Amino acid sequence: MVLGWIVEPLLAWYDRNARVLPWREEPTPYRVWISEIMLQQTRVEAVKPYFERFVSQLPDITALAEADDDKLMKLWEGLGYYSRARNLKKAAQLAAEEFGGRLPAAYDELLKLPGIGPYTAGAISSIAFGIPAPAVDGNVLRVITRVTADYSNVSDSKVKREMEEKVRDILPPARAGDMNQALMELGATVCLPNGLPKCEICPLKEICEAERQGNPLDFPQKNTKKARKIEEKTVLLLICGKKTAIRKRQEKGLLAGLYEFPNLDGYLSDEQIRRQVEKWGMQMVSIKETGKAKHIFSHVEWHMKGFQVDVEQESARFLWTTKEERQDRFPIPSAFQFYTKILEKEQGKAPY
Ligand code: ADE
Ligand code: SF4
Repeated sequence: MVLGWIVEPLLAWYDRNARVLPWREEPTPYRVWISEIMLQQTRVEAVKPYFERFVSQLPDITALAEADDDKLMKLWEGLGYYSRARNLKKAAQLAAEEFGGRLPAAYDELLKLPGIGPYTAGAISSIAFGIPAPAVDGNVLRVITRVTADYSNVSDSKVKREMEEKVRDILPPARAGDMNQALMELGATVCLPNGLPKCEICPLKEICEAERQGNPLDFPQKNTKKARKIEEKTVLLLICGKKTAIRKRQEKGLLAGLYEFPNLDGYLSDEQIRRQVEKWGMQMVSIKETGKAKHIFSHVEWHMKGFQVDVEQESARFLWTTKEERQDRFPIPSAFQFYTKILEKEQGKAPY
């Protein structure tokens, strides 16, 4: 089949079936940028409320460039992959300095900004500026390899660049943004991953090569990922009077610069916990197990066992916070949500 054959039926389908999304209603460069970054690792439904809150509190590039880090993290709390938010701010600062507080209307200039790779540069260029640049993400790779029954390995960056060129060649100059979004939309709602493509309702079913061969599930070919590493942790809810201890994580690596409950590697016994608490300069009054929780990141899994530990005095090595302070000021990632919730519930009984 010839790839160009997909343009007409796909655009016609998109005109009838495009989801109504807040960033599509008013596709300014800033809004398209924020939405595309949020959508990189997060589903559309989950992104919507975050997007609305983010653009109402930080309505433009200048506001984002000047945003307080903890406030920015608070707006991102729960979305995960926090480096995306840090890069947004860095890019906004550059855009404020170099482009007068606007995003540059050029693919190559966008590509130079932190957090903006070929996909995002293509999406902003085409959707917000009408530039005919391809925006090839995982959804688009799946659609293209299926309609053309292409067995190339899409984990290979050379193959990805070739796919971008194939898409570039078929983008209709007047509707490049719509064409890119139609491809994404088909991948997100019809040409679904794993065992689920809905070929019966697909606007491309008459011309799709994989559908003709009866093997859509063979595509895309990619490298198998290696298994995630499992890390066991003991999470401590150290409570002194009305306050609970948190600390800031290191500025590098996983969940960098966010706040967390003190935690230790491995599953510790009550006795090991008591000794650690004493090393931190506190006396343990009581200890109670609060339950196990799991959090899955892209490369590791945390298997956590939590303890509520009442202590006699506050140690200066931690920040002692009330529930309100944790909710309003300190970004605590959802990896710890199980324990944050336990404290909120306990709040009914005692004012931690
Ligand atoms: N996923 C990421 N960006 C998208 C967009 N603009 N439309 C549909 N799905 C998307
Ligand atoms: Fe995907 Fe099936 Fe449509 Fe082909 S016919 S593009 S495999 S949903």
